[in-house]
Amino acid sequence: MTVPVLLDCDPGHDDAIAILLALASPEIELLGVTTVAGNQTLAKVTANAIRVLELVGRGDVPVAAGADRPLVREQLVADFVHGDTGLDGPALPPPRGAPLERHAVDVLAERIRERDGRVVLVATGPLTNVALLLALHPVARPERIVVMGGAVAEGNVTPAAEFNVWADPEAAQRVFASGVDVTMIGLDVTHRALMRRDHAERMRAAGRVGRFVAELWDFFSRFHLETYGSEDSPVHDALALVHAFRAGLVETRFVNVEVDCESSLCRGRTVVDVWRRSGREPNVHVGLAVDGEAFVELLVERIRSLG
Ligand code: BDR
Ligand code: CA
Repeated sequence: MTVPVLLDCDPGHDDAIAILLALASPEIELLGVTTVAGNQTLAKVTANAIRVLELVGRGDVPVAAGADRPLVREQLVADFVHGDTGLDGPALPPPRGAPLERHAVDVLAERIRERDGRVVLVATGPLTNVALLLALHPVARPERIVVMGGAVAEGNVTPAAEFNVWADPEAAQRVFASGVDVTMIGLDVTHRALMRRDHAERMRAAGRVGRFVAELWDFFSRFHLETYGSEDSPVHDALALVHAFRAGLVETRFVNVEVDCESSLCRGRTVVDVWRRSGREPNVHVGLAVDGEAFVELLVERIRSLG
């Protein structure tokens, strides 16, 4: 049985790879792609989603644009990782198609209702659209939400916080507290599932799409080399996507997670109660360990299958 998936994203290099991985995975029925301001402005990430779909001849997958800024905070893009277009590196033509003339949140709600809630919502950008969905459409609840975001003990945009949660902490807090089955695929696991140069070269040798992904890696691995001292790079969003259809690669624990929306120093920190110190009820399945090699092998093979 295939898993119906909605992908809410902000492409973004690793979001783009997650889109391609979804299309290359027979376990998934991709019902639609929605976009949210994050790595770049809403206009840029929406254009990027369409460009990636068109690259593989899948302009038929519906794309809807959502929130153009976080719930409360100012919008700040991650051009230091993803460049001015949000997808710097490979040459891609501008989009031929256009997004639906409807707000992403309404499209998500409609698709979820059509499937009686039997949908996995994979969220790989700031959680603004997802928080709005839960607030505006309380009966359109997906069966599960798999979030790329957060970390137990590290940050990548500040010492305390991961980008997606930091970008819209109020939205993340609402999603984690929603009572929906939520999984958090954070830096603890994405930073242990690294795409190396040899993986990129195997993709590059496979054809046009493989070359595109290798060129994405060429670009974002520079950020990782400068920041972490190694070009081996996480493909954060693709790991979250895989978790939607293949349990077992990421090991999770059901614990309490709250988001720091109060302090400035720790804005967007996910306070993960690994040792049950708070007395608060568990609300999130948190990824704590991963079979990184198995994940990247799967990624390489699936991207190569696209040619
Ligand atoms: C997350 O932030 C973005 O830059 C990436 O696309 C990913 O979703 C990693 O912290
Ligand atoms: Ca992303």
